[in-house]
Amino acid sequence: FKVNWDISVAEKAGYKHFMLKEIYEQPRTITDTITGFLSQENKELYEKIKDIQIIHIVACGTSYHAGLVGKFWIEKFAKIPVIVDYASEYRYRDLVIDDKTLVIAISQSGETADTRFAVLEAKKKGAKLLSIVNVVGSSLSRESDYVLYTYCGPEIGVAATKTFTAQLITLLLFSLKSALSKNLISEKYFEDFYHDLIKLPSIIERELKDIDKKTEDIAFKYHNAKDFLFLGRGLNYPIALEGALKLKEISYIHAEGYPAGEMKHGPIALIDENMPVVSIIPKDNLYEKMLSNIQEVKARKGKVISLITKGNKEVIEISDDFIEIEETNENLYPILTAIPLQLLAYHIATILGKDVDQPRNLAKTVTVE
Ligand code: G6P
Repeated sequence: FKVNWDISVAEKAGYKHFMLKEIYEQPRTITDTITGFLSQENKELYEKIKDIQIIHIVACGTSYHAGLVGKFWIEKFAKIPVIVDYASEYRYRDLVIDDKTLVIAISQSGETADTRFAVLEAKKKGAKLLSIVNVVGSSLSRESDYVLYTYCGPEIGVAATKTFTAQLITLLLFSLKSALSKNLISEKYFEDFYHDLIKLPSIIERELKDIDKKTEDIAFKYHNAKDFLFLGRGLNYPIALEGALKLKEISYIHAEGYPAGEMKHGPIALIDENMPVVSIIPKDNLYEKMLSNIQEVKARKGKVISLITKGNKEVIEISDDFIEIEETNENLYPILTAIPLQLLAYHIATILGKDVDQPRNLAKTVTVE
């Protein structure tokens, strides 16, 4: 009797691909990132934050999209202006920096050359450097003044998934902690927020159960499309960019993410009956605005795939397809809306027979410029 023992199958814990396994790990990685974050005091960082006048967030790829969401939270809670830049651009700009500038590098690996060298330049000019990394002991973690870890364990799939949502959690908690330290919010506010936050892992568990099959059905329907448009506003605009990036990376379908309000200044020309438009429209402060943007898509016969808060009939009526997420604190929607888009990209790519864990031309970590 011979057991057919395949190590890679064992490592995938029964999942067909690392990417799917890592998508499903998110309830746990989010819990670990919240508890890991709160177990570290980082007194010096939150003391320093009191005299920081501007924050520069520097990153590449998916980590850059996390930074774009982080900007909203930091400006909203900690009231510090934020600019977000691609590392490869930041490095070669004339940076205006002093010791009241905090540079935040976001990098899963902590080894991305563009990110490392861009922020080291800023550090040389006098900025304090905080990095948000997943790999303990990585170059960036050693080169930084302060480090916040995401607690995801190794991420094998080239397309980042679980580390993205953990970066979001870290940025959100960092914004709240900074606000607390600057006396902009009360302990009570922080605790109430925390209560919403710790409900996320079980919401995501239910979400994964509810939507996996649904996103697969949608993937079957649209996998032959040549282009996709992803739209969102506010906190969910960077999620539209990330949804488009995921699809490009692993399915090789051309996709563009756009802030929905900007659509009328160009991309609307692309919309016809062959264009699937993935619209992120939870019930948040920009809901009405987003709704009228979707109506514009519909009027041009675009195929509307909407990501909605459960039971929202108003949007269901104008959608060709929809994916529902649970209602929660509106600041948390980007975490809930990112996950269906990971699954959508995953299913489209597997239907097309692509190698989702190791897409062509891409590397997990890019250590050259
Ligand atoms: C590569 C990967 C992307 C990743 C980016 C930044 O391009 O393929 O998935 O988002 O690097 O990586 P980092 O490790 O710095 O987050």
